Amino acid sequence: MTGVKIDGLEVAKSIRLQVKDIVNDLKAKGITPCLATVLVGDNQASATYVRNKHKACEDVGILTKDHTPTAEITQAGLNKLIEELNQDETVHGILVQLPLPSHLNEFITTTQILPEKDVDGLTPPNVGLLSIGKAVLVACTPSGIIEMCKYYNIELEGKNVVIINRSNLVGKPLYHLLLQNNATVTTCHSKTKDLKKICLNSDIVITGVGNRAIFKLTPDMIKEGAVVIDVATTRHDGKLSGDADYSEIIEKTSFASPVPGGVGPMTVAMLLKNTVTAAAISKGIDIKS
Ligand SMILES: NC(=O)c1ccc[n+]([C@@H]2O[C@H](COP(=O)([O-])OP(=O)(O)OC[C@H]3O[C@@H](n4cnc5c(N)ncnc54)[C@H](OP(=O)(O)O)[C@@H]3O)[C@@H](O)[C@H]2O)c1
Repeated sequence: MTGVKIDGLEVAKSIRLQVKDIVNDLKAKGITPCLATVLVGDNQASATYVRNKHKACEDVGILTKDHTPTAEITQAGLNKLIEELNQDETVHGILVQLPLPSHLNEFITTTQILPEKDVDGLTPPNVGLLSIGKAVLVACTPSGIIEMCKYYNIELEGKNVVIINRSNLVGKPLYHLLLQNNATVTTCHSKTKDLKKICLNSDIVITGVGNRAIFKLTPDMIKEGAVVIDVATTRHDGKLSGDADYSEIIEKTSFASPVPGGVGPMTVAMLLKNTVTAAAISKGIDIKS
């Protein structure tokens, strides 16, 4: 069996078009959605991610405010900047690009962000709301994966889904979203025993390890006709790849997502969606998803 490519660029495009319409509606009501980004220090990869997010915002008409404190900023200084953005009524979403330099605490930092401006869905109130199925602002990568499944009519209800990742950014929020979609979810990690057996028993395998030296998802680990969604982004043999080799895995799957061009574009698209959602909520406007 050769599967269908889950084209993240195509799905992301459809989300961006929806977002653009919402931006136009909000502008007609006098609201210009605005995302403030905070990039600390001079991490080149992070700078590229932030640049791409700004460009994506620009393309759909979302304003951006760029804050680039040097790596010398103190925790108190960073907290103060976030507090200013919390108070700024023209800012609807705040994104602190991670990782932060090691003297800064990521939990303390993200916890400063007002939940209603938390477009990354990382603050404890939003994480708590997600766990009881009431979240509005949800982490972008997991919600992007759910959108990909919807776009390709990949049924989640009653399916055995394995997530190979338990991070706060990916695996844990994804677990809740899948559960809300009536999947039966198994979360695996570095201490999991019999990972191959769990994968072979799964209808959908979502993998996000990101280190080929210790893990590779190979065709013998998945059952014929399964769906594979590859979240990982890692440098392998000089090029960007995921946990799996797409050309190998696609031969055995019904659907598979490539790297690049899979989950990555969805993460950015969902950030745009969260930003317009936050802007609408700030003015008491209900936008249907
Ligand atoms: N495309 C996107 O938009 C996007 C967004 C977010 C992340 N990513 C990518 O996704 C990957 C993961 O990101 P992250 O932030 O979640 O990283 P992370 O916190 O390092 O998570 C990696 C996960 O893999 C697990 N793991 C490590 N070795 C394993 C093994 N041998 N078998 C099974 N599980 C194993 C870890 O288990 P433990 O918890 O036991 O350590 C952990 O849960 C990275 O490549 C990142 O670049 C991509």
